[in-house]
Amino acid sequence: MRAHEGGEGRGQGRGRQRRRSCLCWPLLGALVALAGAAGAPSELRVRVRLPDGQVTEESLQADSGADCVSLELRKGDGTLITLTADFRQEVKIFRALILGELERGQSQFQALCFVTRLHRNEIIPSESMAKLRQKNPRTVRQAEEVRALEHLSMDVAVNFSKGLQLSSHIHNVCSEAKEAIYTREEDVKFWLEKGVDGSMFEVLPQSTDLPDLQQCRLCTDRWKPCICNYALSIEWYPCMLKYCKSRDVSGKISSYKCGIRSCQKAYSFDYYVPQKQLCLWDEET
Ligand SMILES: *[C@@H]1O[C@H](CO)[C@@H](O)[C@H](O)[C@H]1NC(C)=O
Repeated sequence: MRAHEGGEGRGQGRGRQRRRSCLCWPLLGALVALAGAAGAPSELRVRVRLPDGQVTEESLQADSGADCVSLELRKGDGTLITLTADFRQEVKIFRALILGELERGQSQFQALCFVTRLHRNEIIPSESMAKLRQKNPRTVRQAEEVRALEHLSMDVAVNFSKGLQLSSHIHNVCSEAKEAIYTREEDVKFWLEKGVDGSMFEVLPQSTDLPDLQQCRLCTDRWKPCICNYALSIEWYPCMLKYCKSRDVSGKISSYKCGIRSCQKAYSFDYYVPQKQLCLWDEET
């Protein structure tokens, strides 16, 4: 594990480059006090390389008071991807704002929200995220670890106006996706056990109910229901804390947080649409 992301530095100056591009916490002492009062929202902007080689800016926001973290990046095609992690409610929300193709008669953008369970240790805690700093904001970052693609079958719709009870963030994040908020039955089961009100969830038609239901990319009729697929990738996020060891004068070894490990992870969502025309990006090419 390395505390320092591999930047553009190559060759001789590399050690130095790495040190300058360190993404870490300020050393204990006066700098910590400067990092702001606990609970104050913070934002960090990092430059991230996309798989096509383009560089985009990613924004990482953390609010340790509300115990949540939010990541946002714009893909090369203009799509805006947001991931909001609500640690308190154990909920994570993916939102995609997909630009429409006006020449195909599509409205300006389509918004999708995928809500799923947030597991412990998927992403670093909000208070650690809030303290993250970088020395060189121009460093182009690439994740140290690529995590396996996760395929999720989103078989339940979430009612927007009641979604507040699941996570207060649904209201802000999914307001443009009121009719397109999806989750999974297995996540619903987990939240129901925690006492979340079940009336916000509605099970969507399955292939067992509709034998004709096929993947939208195989469907030729624009007006037929089908299973749409949308895939997205969180290109760079702090997924783990890195600990360093230090030895005091008596020789005793202790460990302290000294940086993060970065990950990239892609998600593929399948969800029901009542008409194929709501799923135009998912076409056979
Ligand atoms: C969502 O819940 C509200 C409030 O109970 C209700 O009025 C509305 O009809 C529901 N929407 C859907 C799509 O079921």
